[in-house]
Amino acid sequence: MTDRYAVIGYPLGHTISPAFQQAAFDHLGLDAIYEAIETPPADLSRRISELRSGRLSGMNVTIPHKNEIVASLDHITDTARLTGAVNTVTATDGGLKGDNTDVAAIEEVLRRSNVPTGIDCLLLGAGGAARAALLALSRRGDNLTVANRTLSNAEQIVRNLAPDSGFKTIGLDSPSLTAIARDTRLILNTTSIGMHGGPAPDRSPLPAAALHADQTVFDIVYRPTTTPLLAAASSAGAECLGGLEMLILQGAHSFQIWTGREPPFDIMLAAGRRALEAS
Ligand code: ATR
Repeated sequence: MTDRYAVIGYPLGHTISPAFQQAAFDHLGLDAIYEAIETPPADLSRRISELRSGRLSGMNVTIPHKNEIVASLDHITDTARLTGAVNTVTATDGGLKGDNTDVAAIEEVLRRSNVPTGIDCLLLGAGGAARAALLALSRRGDNLTVANRTLSNAEQIVRNLAPDSGFKTIGLDSPSLTAIARDTRLILNTTSIGMHGGPAPDRSPLPAAALHADQTVFDIVYRPTTTPLLAAASSAGAECLGGLEMLILQGAHSFQIWTGREPPFDIMLAAGRRALEAS
């Protein structure tokens, strides 16, 4: 019987997950369909029933369900519990299991690019993606400053996720941010500044003076592939990492959890890139 998988969210907009997940199933010759199912909050319980009845084998979960879905699951991994967010659900014999593969994806992006561990990092943002990034960076042994528009949100994620770390926090509009950014080896943006369709698509969260050639700048925004932050980082000679690879890696980890098979990363990346260019 054909296994069915889906990405659920609301609004789903144009998601490229079906393109790269289906490419992985097809490449390995697995009898499976991966589709986008727009799911308003009132329909979340329907998706849960479909998982429990076997009509769905697994799901990727995106806004606004990442937190809400936790209450409907039987088990969640430690990583999902710490981030408070589930992006991967698997129907197993023992019930519905939730995982968060963003953390592993961020670690893997940095490992693939040979970004050294134990370095000074500036994390921009304090939302859901920032929680995953904070966990990933602290697992690498990095030393963090978290900068956010709303300072109290930055303070809260440090207090919740890394209370004894000594990680610092700062407002995104603080005059000292530029100097702090210049002193860091890695800058990781998780805010929606620079995102197509977001609140400030033409802006960078940092001024150009904050960037230089001895840094890595990782923007998890993938639409556009070159955000204003990455354009400025590239002009400054910094190493630039875009969000597409992370998006594919979080999906590849989901694929591995569902199928137990090694995900064909290059195939998935190529399919994701084509879908992004076409959208
Ligand atoms: P995600 O789950 O993708 O991380 P989120 O939880 O909504 O999304 O978080 C969005 C992040 O972008 C937050 O850090 C938010 O800052 P606040 O905590 O101050 O809200 C940041 N953000 C969103 N719009 C912004 C803007 N116009 N200027 C600065 N920061 C912004």
